[in-house]
Amino acid sequence: MNKLDVVSIQDLGAERLRRILESGIAMKAAGPSASPKPLEGKSVALLFQKPSLRTRVSFDLAVHQMGGHPLYLSPDEVGLGNREPVEDVAKVLGRLVDGIVARTFGHDIVEALARHARVPVINGLSDGEHPCQAVADLLTAQEKKGGVEGLTIAYVGDGNNVAVSLALASAMCGARFRAASPKGYELPATTVAAANWAGAETETLVELLEDPREAVSGADVVYTDVWTSMGQEDEAQQRRAVFEPYRMTPELLDLAAGDAIFMHPLPAHPGEEVTPGLLDHPKSVVFEQAENRLHGQKAVLLEIYGG
Ligand code: CP
Ligand code: NVA
Repeated sequence: MNKLDVVSIQDLGAERLRRILESGIAMKAAGPSASPKPLEGKSVALLFQKPSLRTRVSFDLAVHQMGGHPLYLSPDEVGLGNREPVEDVAKVLGRLVDGIVARTFGHDIVEALARHARVPVINGLSDGEHPCQAVADLLTAQEKKGGVEGLTIAYVGDGNNVAVSLALASAMCGARFRAASPKGYELPATTVAAANWAGAETETLVELLEDPREAVSGADVVYTDVWTSMGQEDEAQQRRAVFEPYRMTPELLDLAAGDAIFMHPLPAHPGEEVTPGLLDHPKSVVFEQAENRLHGQKAVLLEIYGG
């Protein structure tokens, strides 16, 4: 079967990822009316086990703008893995629609969907990765900085799904990635190894640190994400204590390069990982980053369906 699934950002490979960043920026400039329409006559299921604003809306619009029909399937309707085995959902949907965007708890669930559906499966966030977020992040960095290669990206906080995809994507595009996390919440060793392997081609490295100040000092891009991801709500109290020294503040941002940008995938929690008002800081590009989810998504769809 010759289909392109995007379960991990690594599924794209460096060359394709760079092409996606270019085409996303080009489609953004051209506007929705000039959008290519590779999805004419096609349907894409948006199969979500968790809530979403950005991913759901941007994929819905992306599919529409590219000529296709998006079909949102809420957690309650499908009962993925409860009402019906994941494998069967994948086989059924694969016969009815032309693609599946899935937001799941376990990363193994999105992997199983990809294995059993005969149509492309795109990871719209799992506990393991958030590849489409990383596409929008690097697209934003490329727009703001003129390129990604050679940038230093400082990530402060949990070594979670967002951090994993961004570390891998950064290395694939030749950026340095410095992650400051508390002990026990670092990026997985497998991610660091994979990213450094991807980076070997471009001679850049992923570095794990503990001190947020060290990570942010001189960085071109400063990034943080929530302390408690969806599905970890039971750990919220403990995480608030552990991550307290990792809050992003204007003072921490001041240590970055003068022209640095600040990113966050959103939703944010002012008072936890960011100080109140930080999203409107002069360095912040978080709302453009959120808009770029649409352009990044379209570029991913173009790569899969553009033939
Ligand atoms: N950043 C992101 O994925 O947002 P949603 O959870 O709202 O889709
Ligand atoms: N790490 C967060 C990202 C939300 C977009 C989560 O998984 O909840």
